[in-house]
Parts: sequence; C-alpha cells; structure tokens
Amino acid sequence: MKIGHIMKHYRLALIPGDGIGVDVTAAAMSVLRAAAEKSGFTLETESFPWSCEYYLETGRMMPEDGIETLRGFDAIYLGAVGWPDTVPDSVSLHGLLLPIRKAFRQYANIRPHRLLPGVEGPLKTDGFDILCIRENTEGEYSGAGGRVHQGQPEEVAVETAIFTRSGIERIVRFGFEQARARRGHLTSVTKSNAQKFSMVFWDEMTRQVAADYPDVTVSSMHIDAMAAKMVMAPQDFDVVVASNLFGDILTDLGAAIQGGLGFAASANICPDRSAPSMFEPVHGSAPDIAGKNIANPIAAIWSAAMMLDHLGESAAAKAVLSAIETATGRGIGTRPGQNSTDEITRAILAALENDNEA
Ligand code: NAD
Ligand code: IPM
Ligand code: MN
Repeated sequence: MKIGHIMKHYRLALIPGDGIGVDVTAAAMSVLRAAAEKSGFTLETESFPWSCEYYLETGRMMPEDGIETLRGFDAIYLGAVGWPDTVPDSVSLHGLLLPIRKAFRQYANIRPHRLLPGVEGPLKTDGFDILCIRENTEGEYSGAGGRVHQGQPEEVAVETAIFTRSGIERIVRFGFEQARARRGHLTSVTKSNAQKFSMVFWDEMTRQVAADYPDVTVSSMHIDAMAAKMVMAPQDFDVVVASNLFGDILTDLGAAIQGGLGFAASANICPDRSAPSMFEPVHGSAPDIAGKNIANPIAAIWSAAMMLDHLGESAAAKAVLSAIETATGRGIGTRPGQNSTDEITRAILAALENDNEA
C-alpha cells in the first residue's frame, strides 16, 4: 500500500444474481480486493440480492427504486441473471439486466476475444485479437412490439427493431475511437442485403462517420459471412461493430474461438459517464454447472479488470490481467473441468501477490 497519497475510494454495487453468477462474483471480488490493497485504493461494496430467488419472494427482480439506488455507485458488477426453471427469461432479464443497460445509457458493450497464454482454442490459428463493440440499448432489443389475439389461430406477434440516427452514430463513432487506439481497422457488421431500411441506414452512417477517421480502414460485412470468417480467418479483424442482437451472437462465437464462455469478458459502458457503467462476464448463470465449484472465474475476473481500467486504475487493471495470464500460462484454468473455481482464483491471487509492479 502506498503511503503519503490521498487514497482513492470507489463504491461498487454488486449484483451476483443467479447460478454461477454468485460464485464468479465472489472470485472476482477477492481478486479486486487484493488488487486494491496492492495498488493503494479502497473499495466499498454493497451487495444486492436481486435475482430469480428474489423475484419468487417479492414479485420483482429489483425494487421499484432499484435504478435510483444503483445510480449513486461508481460502477456496477453483475455475475449473471436467469433461472429459467422457475422464472421465464423474458421476465428475469427484462426486470434487471436489460433495464440497467438502457436506464444508464450503457450503449457500448465491449467484449475482447483473444486466446490467453496456455489456452488452446478450437481453431488452427491462435493469432487473433478482436474487440467486439456491440450496440447495447436499442436495435433488435428495443422492446417495441406486442401480441394480439393470444391463443387464437389468428394470433400475431410483432417485435420491431428500432435504429436511431443518434444511436447508430454514437456506437459507430465509439468503434472508430477504439480502432484508432488499436490497429486502425474497423469492421461494421450488418445484413443490409436483406434488411433494407435499418441496416442500409447503419451502412450509410458508418460511411458518414468514417469520413472523420481517415486513419482507420473500414470494411462492411454481412453477419452471415462474418460468422464464417470469424471461424476461418479471425486474425483479419481488429475492432468489430455490430447491432445489439448481431453483437450478442457474434460474441458467443468470439467466446467459443477463445476457448469457451469461461474466458469471455464484457463491459457495458456509459461513455459520457453520466451514469455508472456495468461489468459482467459474457456468460449466463449456467444452471448445468451451478453449485459445483467448476465454473471458470476468468471471464468474471477479466471483466473486473475492465472495471478497474474504467475507474482510472489502469495499473491495477494491467496487474490483474497479467495475473490471469500468469495463471493460464502455467496451465491453470485452461481446460474445462481441469481446476475448480477456487483453485483458479487462488492461482490468480498468488500471481498477483508475486507481481511487485502493481
Ligand atoms: P450460459 O452462458 O449460462 O451457459 C452456456 C454453456 O456454457 C453451459 O453449458 C455452461 O455450463 C457453459 N458455461 C458458461 N459459463 C461458464 C463458465 N464460467 N465456466 C464454464 N462453463 C461455462 O447460457 P445459457 O445456458 O443459454 O443461459 C443460462 C441462463 O443464463 C438463462 O437464464 C439465460 O437467459 C441467462 N443468461 C444471462 C446472462 C447475463 O446475465 N449476462 C448472459 C447469458 C445468459
Ligand atoms: C448477453 C446475454 C443477454 C443479452 C441476455 C441474457 C438477455 O446473452 O449479455 O450476452 O442478450 O444481451
Ligand atoms: Mn449473449
């Protein structure tokens, strides 16, 4: 701990949620606390029990003033939400995760896909480093629609994807900024050959914003071809920008090529910082492995490192990422089922402890 500095202090809201969300949040918090201790800042956490269990007890996924409660924190950390055996996903996700992303204008969902040292992905190539930027507040997830004549033969369901000029422009611009700070290439993913209104609009906006970034090269791809190319030649991509649903699907594919969902981190960013951002692994509550102490906590710990970076603690963020890399480099947590959640967490804590640069 550094002496003689005014210690920075951060207030974090924790929502462990359901299933393995609870285990991986505990793992991520133990690493965060160790990083804080080493780097000389303090963390104050408040844990909220909002989950499917909470719903069964109270009839709500979070209290009516839940959003207002969260607003006062510096950042939100979420494990995973969903327990479809008892609460329909359409209720649980629309009662907690999705409203937080929208209410706090966390329009940029950032998901890195690369192989950690020691992790063997399913592909022949191992030299890819993709940053997927997923639009996170509108598009196919706008929630505009309805059902009429329910249960009747003439039943109709409508779900309208909403794309706004401001919504497309800000996410594409965000992507260009990331590309500029990385390898200078941006791939915009749409389906403008079939969806001739929204996706053509997106392509137009991408061309418009590109004019402000002459130093960034741009390609536009259709989502179907993109899915194939992420398997065949993932090394060709740098920053990838996609709509809410396309980004959701591509980032589970990204998780797969980086060795599995246990390695895929994510950050829901409110770029103007008018509200807290939220950090969570890409994976869900994994009911099939919940309570077995076998969930890989690396995705969750990496997401916590992204939170440190966002809070301005970039040295601590780097130290956590490098501790993850040291652990996987030694073969810990690299293969499904090989190590327990606790063993992987302990190996990362030990690596962090032995790194004197933090
Ligand atoms: P999932 O991501 O929970 O699991 C998919 C598969 O990956 C499962 O076989 C699981 O065991 C495995 N897996 C996931 N994380 C892992 C980890 N850390 N280590 C090892 N293996 C891991 O997706 P699903 O089964 O489609 O969804 C389960 C529930 O989670 C549903 O209710 C769903 O809606 C919800 N969900 C929530 C979030 C979130 O809160 N951000 C994200 C995705 C899914
Ligand atoms: C994700 C998840 C969520 C999403 C679900 C649980 C609503 O799959 O964060 O990737 O689709 O955004
Ligand atoms: Mn997803």
